[in-house]
Amino acid sequence: MRSLAIVNQKGGSGKTTTTVNLAAALGEKGRRILVVDLDPQASASHWYGVKDGGRGLLEVFTDKGTIAALIRGTEAPGVSIVASSAWLVGVEKALAGEVGAETILRRKAERLASGGWDYILMDCPPALGILTVNALAAAQEILVPVEAHVLALNGLAQLLQTVNVVKERLSPLLKLAGILACRVDYRTRHAQEVVEQLRDRFGKSVYRTVIRENIRLAECPSFGQPITEYDTNSHGAEDYRSLAQEVVKQERSR
Ligand SMILES: Nc1ncnc2c1ncn2[C@@H]1O[C@H](COP(=O)(O)OP(=O)(O)OP(=O)(O)O)[C@@H](O)[C@H]1O
Ligand SMILES: [Mg+2]
Repeated sequence: MRSLAIVNQKGGSGKTTTTVNLAAALGEKGRRILVVDLDPQASASHWYGVKDGGRGLLEVFTDKGTIAALIRGTEAPGVSIVASSAWLVGVEKALAGEVGAETILRRKAERLASGGWDYILMDCPPALGILTVNALAAAQEILVPVEAHVLALNGLAQLLQTVNVVKERLSPLLKLAGILACRVDYRTRHAQEVVEQLRDRFGKSVYRTVIRENIRLAECPSFGQPITEYDTNSHGAEDYRSLAQEVVKQERSR
């Protein structure tokens, strides 16, 4: 089993789009995936048609609930979800000052190892608060979607610094699965330059797959489907299948 936190503190970088569509593309390849929505905005949950995830996940953090009790199936083959809701905003306050608050999810997720999952994908909120730190501490690897815009590169250094702190203090084995260029509009020179800069700076840590700007990707949440089902021949579906291929190839070296 691999567990990946999909993380970037910058809003709108493509975390949820990547979580949902990578999950579906891995599902097409016969993998079993559990998506854990850790964002109080609950975008991934809404995408999968869960209107109100309730307070279950909050209770996992405040120690009463189990993750296993919250797992629901989705219409995407192979993909199940632990849904989020606005209740999750309460985690920050509930855990303020609590010893060991950063590793609650890791402790709760340990039992998932026996559930037959090939992948756990955690969709993080756009902040480096307690929820994201819990995801970093619970995950074996991180996948960082970056919007192909020069301003997005500035935040990346800060993120990688936080990852290093988590690694030193909580999770020495945490690895970078890869950086993913998202929303790349090849009609602009700027987007191409940003992708080149990413490759210059981070080399092989950047996935070869690039997620192109594709209107179909922006449309499909409203239809409750991943791109592989909403428009199976779109650029978006092609790109996320290509990412899934790369991610599956990494299995050998993990
Ligand atoms: N490749 C793409 N082409 C077109 N639109 C995209 C693409 N990727 C993401 N989007 C759109 O950009 C917006 C932000 O994407 P997304 O919600 O995945 O980012 P996020 O990092 O999860 O945001 P947040 O930080 O708010 O959770 C959404 O409206 C989404 O539909
Ligand atoms: Mg999101």
